[in-house]
Amino acid sequence: MSEGAKYSPGLDGVVAGETAVACVDQGQLLYRGYPIEELAERSTFEEVAYLLLFGDLPNVGQLAGIRQRLDDYRVLPSAVIDTIRRIPSDVAMMDVLKTGVSMTGHFDPTVKADTNDALRDRALWLTAQISGIIAARYRLLNGKEPREPKEGLSHAAQFLYQSQGVEPDAISTRLLDLTLVLYAEHEFNASTFTARVICSTLSDLVSAVVGAIGALKGPLHGGANEEAMEMLRQFKTADEARAWIADALANKKKVMGFGHRVYKNGDHRAKILEQELRKLAASKGQNVWMEIYDAIKGPMVNDKKIFPNVDYPCGLTYFLMGMPLDLYTPLFVASRVTGWSAHFIEQRVNNRIYRPLSIYTGHPLRKVVPIQNRG
Ligand code: COA
Repeated sequence: MSEGAKYSPGLDGVVAGETAVACVDQGQLLYRGYPIEELAERSTFEEVAYLLLFGDLPNVGQLAGIRQRLDDYRVLPSAVIDTIRRIPSDVAMMDVLKTGVSMTGHFDPTVKADTNDALRDRALWLTAQISGIIAARYRLLNGKEPREPKEGLSHAAQFLYQSQGVEPDAISTRLLDLTLVLYAEHEFNASTFTARVICSTLSDLVSAVVGAIGALKGPLHGGANEEAMEMLRQFKTADEARAWIADALANKKKVMGFGHRVYKNGDHRAKILEQELRKLAASKGQNVWMEIYDAIKGPMVNDKKIFPNVDYPCGLTYFLMGMPLDLYTPLFVASRVTGWSAHFIEQRVNNRIYRPLSIYTGHPLRKVVPIQNRG
């Protein structure tokens, strides 16, 4: 490490670049200047995708254009479906998705250029393909053939239609859409940073997205929504949850779906989603799940001062919507691909290769002994 360089494990507190895509300003998440609360209330995922990729919210015509583009790009190449079909059924959905995206990358129908417009179009193609890959794998695992997309559905409705085979109800569509809005972007998180590092070598968008999927799948990042639900579903009552959390805290266990590097006083996205989750649980007569949810949350917030992040309510929301756990982190990808792509475009415009330093902790200088003289 060179003289004067400062070491911060996990790059904690280190400014690693500039971005105009999103920021957390005094605890408030803004996508291109718009508060996440307002976007969650007043816009759809497609509007947010447009905002992230183009820099501003779309007007009616621009929104129709982006929806049409997504529809144009939904059909999966048959080679991609064949590949997904051949992957053993016990392989995790995130790993299938990684392979599916890499495979579809060989059939990229977009204009072969790296202009911002071409990259935006490629981002929309990837957004459409990713949702189709998840839905196709889900159906194949359930012994059903992938379903052809249906023109004119929203991105959220399309996913539900292609995975479940029937047109979804308005509540499920709105809730999925809300989670997609909340998951779309979060400045220099681990997967976005991965995408930017890959971009910084002048590699391509598909490679950056595949790398970012690998980073997102870990339980400390996107994988937390599945892990949080895995934890909750072991309890039948709030008392069981209370006993478990007391033991977890006494033994300093990490509780998935809580804590955040950036939000130390609570994640706004979690608050927004939790409100909707409470309504969903009530409408389904599933209040016992909220009692379990609160039994874990109470001691985390009151005793540890560690707040839920968006993955905590998201896991239970998807669960109450009837979705299998294996889909939760892939759905995060189905949304975050837009944020990754916006960062990729930004990185490319003003690029400098990422090449940090390290502190060497290995053996001091030594000589290579000829092999016959080694013990
Ligand atoms: N459960 C229990 N304790 C937690 C915790 C959690 N979810 N998150 C943080 N803590 C504790 C740590 O153990 C540490 O305690 P210590 O100082 O006594 O050692 C302290 O809070 C600081 O945590 P740290 O891990 O240093 O924070 P970080 O900024 O490096 O990590 C996360 C942030 C998100 C990786 C971390 O909170 C975590 O692992 N959360 C669970 C996974 C998760 O939900 N990820 C999704 C993020 S959106």
